[in-house]
Amino acid sequence: MDFNLQNLLRENIKNLTPYSSARDEFQGEASVYLDANENAYGSPLPENFNRYPDPLQSDVKQKITSIKGVPPRNIFLGNGSDEAIDILFRSFCRPGIDNVILVPPTYGMYQVSANINDVAVKNVPLTAEYQLNMEGIAEAIDANTKLIFVCSPNNPTGNSINREDVETLLANFNGLVVVDEAYINYSRQKSFIQELTEYGNLVVLQTLSKAWGLAGLRIGMAFASEEIIEVFNRVKPPYNINQASQKLALEALDNLEQVNQWIKETLLERDKLVLGLKNLNFVQDIFPSDANFILVKTVSPKAIYRFLVEKGIIVRDRSKVELCEGCLRITIGTPTENKQLLNTLNLFQA
Ligand SMILES: Cc1ncc(COP(=O)(O)O)c(C=O)c1O
Repeated sequence: MDFNLQNLLRENIKNLTPYSSARDEFQGEASVYLDANENAYGSPLPENFNRYPDPLQSDVKQKITSIKGVPPRNIFLGNGSDEAIDILFRSFCRPGIDNVILVPPTYGMYQVSANINDVAVKNVPLTAEYQLNMEGIAEAIDANTKLIFVCSPNNPTGNSINREDVETLLANFNGLVVVDEAYINYSRQKSFIQELTEYGNLVVLQTLSKAWGLAGLRIGMAFASEEIIEVFNRVKPPYNINQASQKLALEALDNLEQVNQWIKETLLERDKLVLGLKNLNFVQDIFPSDANFILVKTVSPKAIYRFLVEKGIIVRDRSKVELCEGCLRITIGTPTENKQLLNTLNLFQA
């Protein structure tokens, strides 16, 4: 394998002089800050947000390091992992020239980000078992293939992707392998973040939006080599994580036990929901899940979806998605919500 990040980078990014913010130029403590054109009086709120936030979110990263064991220099924080996905395209993919490989059915933002950045997508659908089609991927790779996105556990199918297959990609592909672990906290499988020292072409995405219960704060994480993280930091908007989000994330990250408790409960609820759904005659299949949702194949997905909407319950209709024909994706809720879902479904006449 012949991986070299410099060869992968777009020329304009290689030569980019990043924006230098006031907070980049002076980093110590001072008593008077007259360098950033802020309103020195304060904010019209009980709490002040009149100062720009730390552009590199050192405190939040330090706390993430203590939980994940990955040093701050290997961490990028984005305005959701969606920002990290977009930055990958902007840093590595030349519009109209380069391409990426997606393995549908998978998370929809990879395709949208590719479209926004005018980057061609080579789709290599998952197998019937929702695993990677390794031969298909090998055939699809060409000299301009920069990124392969692997979502594990996968959205919307819920299963984990075979680890050996991802390792084969990492060992043989000269571009970046992006492993999106948004749902890793619910998975029986190990995270890939331990493998960062092994593979220079690995980018692991995680998020505070799922198990951590902070979707509204918009904080996504990318873990990668220092060299890749440096690229992300140069390309990102200077203050991409706002002060309120940094402050609240810092507090939230102290509550790992609460999060672990919710994860346990979610997994128990997932098992219960699966059992309940199996009793319904219009449910044809429930796919094994390593995530906080399940993909359920039914005889009449549209009618069930509409029936649930009428009763005030919203699930995701994935029945038009290739390989997910007939399927609804159902997020695991609280015990009360899951009971309500099952009680309502029991009233549905197929
Ligand atoms: C697989 C996957 N990756 C990333 C995201 C987006 O996460 P964030 O809220 O961090 O942008 C989602 C959200 O649904 C997802 O399912």
